[in-house]
Amino acid sequence: MDTLEAIKTRRSIRRFKDRDIENEKLEAVLEAAGMAPSWANMQCWRFVVVRDGMVREQISELSYVESFLAPKGYKVNPSKKGIAEAPVVIIACADPEQSGLLWDQHYYLTDLGIATQNLMLAAHALGLGSVFVGVFEEEKLRTLLGIPAGIRIVGIVPVGYPRDEKKEGPPRKAREEIVFYEKWKKS
Ligand SMILES: Cc1cc2nc3c(=O)[nH]c(=O)nc-3n(C[C@H](O)[C@H](O)[C@H](O)COP(=O)(O)O)c2cc1C
Repeated sequence: MDTLEAIKTRRSIRRFKDRDIENEKLEAVLEAAGMAPSWANMQCWRFVVVRDGMVREQISELSYVESFLAPKGYKVNPSKKGIAEAPVVIIACADPEQSGLLWDQHYYLTDLGIATQNLMLAAHALGLGSVFVGVFEEEKLRTLLGIPAGIRIVGIVPVGYPRDEKKEGPPRKAREEIVFYEKWKKS
């Protein structure tokens, strides 16, 4: 699968088959994450790879922040089930001290965004599915996984074989809505 095809056909996968993923594939997606560009090449990312089913269940339970999601009409995180059923859950973390800060721009978020996209595209190219889950109880997850204070947890990424063929994703905005040539809004 070439890069553009992978980008265009990747979808968030929220349900997984009861099938393990091969270690070589797991290593390949982690390698892809680590190949991402980063602030001064400081590679602030750290990944906690969880295979233990009971721990995945607990992570799944922590993927809901009521005060944040309930007002938006969510009773659970749409990825809750998937986190428990995926054979591998990758917790994407960052050490902000190993990245840049310019005014209020925290580059560790950028570093992790790029790295996790690499990870998800690599997974897709290898026939695996994944989803970036950005809503979770950070402090409880930190305690569960022994993640030190000062390290930020940026996302939860369940990875596994997709349960269903998923072709259509949610719609994207029209190009003229998101791209301006030469100047903002000038078309
Ligand atoms: C920063 C961020 C946070 C996200 N958090 C969640 C989440 O908590 N739960 C979830 O099910 N999907 C989450 N998603 C996935 C988006 O809903 C999904 O990427 C979007 O709807 C587009 O669908 P697609 O990935 O299939 O193209 C998140 C994506 C991003 C980039």
